[in-house]
Amino acid sequence: MTVGLRFPDGFVWGAATAAYQIEGAARDDGRGPSIWDTFSRTPGKVFAGHTGDVACDHYHRYPDDIGLMADVGLRSYRFSISWPRIKPDGTGPVNPRGLDFYDRLVDALHERGIDPVVTLYHWDLPQPLEDRGGWTARETASWFAEYAAAVYQRLGDRVRVWTTLNEPWCSAFLGYASGIHAPGHQDPAAALKAVHHLLLAHGLAVGELRAAGAQTLGITLNPSAVRPADPDNAADVEAARVVHALSNRIFYDPILAGTYPPEAMELIEALAGLGHIHDQDAKTIAAPIDLLGVNYYAPTYVAGRKGSPGGGPNNPGTEGIEFLPPTGPLTDMGWQIEPAGLTGLLEQIHADYPGIPIMITENGAAFPHTGPDHDRISYVDGHLRAVHDAISRGVDVRGYFLWSFLDNFEWAEGYAKRFGIVHVDYQTQRRTLKESAHWYRSVIARNGLEDR
Ligand code: FCB
Repeated sequence: MTVGLRFPDGFVWGAATAAYQIEGAARDDGRGPSIWDTFSRTPGKVFAGHTGDVACDHYHRYPDDIGLMADVGLRSYRFSISWPRIKPDGTGPVNPRGLDFYDRLVDALHERGIDPVVTLYHWDLPQPLEDRGGWTARETASWFAEYAAAVYQRLGDRVRVWTTLNEPWCSAFLGYASGIHAPGHQDPAAALKAVHHLLLAHGLAVGELRAAGAQTLGITLNPSAVRPADPDNAADVEAARVVHALSNRIFYDPILAGTYPPEAMELIEALAGLGHIHDQDAKTIAAPIDLLGVNYYAPTYVAGRKGSPGGGPNNPGTEGIEFLPPTGPLTDMGWQIEPAGLTGLLEQIHADYPGIPIMITENGAAFPHTGPDHDRISYVDGHLRAVHDAISRGVDVRGYFLWSFLDNFEWAEGYAKRFGIVHVDYQTQRRTLKESAHWYRSVIARNGLEDR
């Protein structure tokens, strides 16, 4: 039997969503098109041709959804702002009706005692900016900072915690290298330029918001919990070190240590050249932050194998490294369930970048909606225990946001994968609390876990 656990006082209990995945209302109130509108309409890109046009219709149903959040006892809610609602052309004049929606949302959250946590970019780039080069264009970084400042100006008096980007690894490598996400390019050089411009966007936005008075600023990364297939095999350990540099430190280091790791620098130079990296960028990108958001779902096992083609288009520069297929219990996404991966990841951040407070900004699992919800409960229970382990070993973890509050549009998987603790019937838009929502309510109420 596993004993009950208590979290530190003030530990933040929340749930997360993202604009394109839940809002719908794709043409309401002056919203412009995003790259996900274009991508989801491109035949063959998203499961069964699903789009975010209607999604969970949260744009119209937010008061009831916030009622459900209060019912579950959420203390905090992480959502993203849709850039194309605020600036339909990506740059230029603000669309006040777009800001009005988030204004109402934030007020409604406060009325129910729920603390809003804002993500400024969760993948829905305005299409007009993609037409001008998207994240391969340096200007996109400045336009992001302008947009961020406009949002802060309206909501900064009522939102304490701001994060710039969600998972820039996905924006860059899924969007520009493998093309399985919008905008769907397959060009590793473009992906590496995108990495830099995303980092620059983050740094410029932190500068803008800090100057405007923001207290708590951060970014959400999805570091891969890279583990050697055999920890006693030197080639496997070396493979894990390289993948860690190319997929994690390529983001951590510029933000938290002011420089790219040498392995990433070599790859960038080889594939994209260094012309897009300007001298003063390192300083901009390393603007101090107050919080690191960590999203974790599954570990990655790698082995050193001469002649292996590497981790495919998502992982340029990994030739000679084999990415092992997931094993053991899997979620409906086919992702390996391994809570210890999260503890290891948190301890590693704590050791390598001491002092940065961490927030788990996403963790959760997709399971089919039929039958009892035990798999999801057990997934979250196991991962909360993993977070608790890290805390008891000295890692400064401030809170946990379950992904996701509602079943929603799971990107290339459309509505086929259900991550919510609240079930959504997409025909009727009826919401039903799953067993995991009731369970999570009791976790929040006792600030911890029961005996298992
Ligand atoms: C993360 C995304 C989030 C959701 C989960 C399952 O990579 O940030 O929007 O799709 O995965």
